[in-house]
Amino acid sequence: MSALLEVLEKRYSCRAFSEQKVDEELIDEVIRAGQLAPSACNLQPYVFYVVTGGSMNVLSKIRPWYGAPSVILGCYCADRGWVRGSDHAEFRQFDLGLAMGQMALRACDLGLGSCFIASFTAHEIQSALKLPVEHCPEIGLALGYAETAGNSGGPSAQHFKRKERHQILFFRA
Ligand SMILES: Cc1cc2nc3c(=O)[nH]c(=O)nc-3n(C[C@H](O)[C@H](O)[C@H](O)COP(=O)(O)O)c2cc1C
Repeated sequence: MSALLEVLEKRYSCRAFSEQKVDEELIDEVIRAGQLAPSACNLQPYVFYVVTGGSMNVLSKIRPWYGAPSVILGCYCADRGWVRGSDHAEFRQFDLGLAMGQMALRACDLGLGSCFIASFTAHEIQSALKLPVEHCPEIGLALGYAETAGNSGGPSAQHFKRKERHQILFFRA
């Protein structure tokens, strides 16, 4: 199996992390994978906040992050990103998703667990972490080492549910 396919098969949303912190160098590697992502017109209309330490305590008051010692907070920039002229469709969140998808895969590749978390109130995070108003928190990637006790950090049943090809795939020849 190709190394890429192996990572694609291995990644899952980890919802229980051990207390072990993630070395800065590893977080840098994860960020690098995001930097390599394509974006519409190469505008890269996003910024990332690596939240650790005391700021993680602040973030955890807003919602739990499954015990992760770190979160990469993906923010799109409200005033940037490509807008398609024909229908005004905005691509900044699409671009952010691509970048963070690559981060999640690289995290897995490095032996880290991760979980995307979008269920939060963005302006609460913005104000708690004192983010500039133009940096809109869209999604957090909880990052750490999967808790091994009782396999609580393993994949959920949800992970194994994928739609069948016929439900999502159509052809026009
Ligand atoms: C945009 C996005 C938002 C998500 N938000 C949450 C969330 O708020 N809380 C959570 O526990 N999981 C969240 N997830 C994880 C999904 O529930 C998970 O990816 C899905 O159930 C498939 O499982 P898997 O990642 O283990 O394959 C999110 C995933 C994505 C892509």
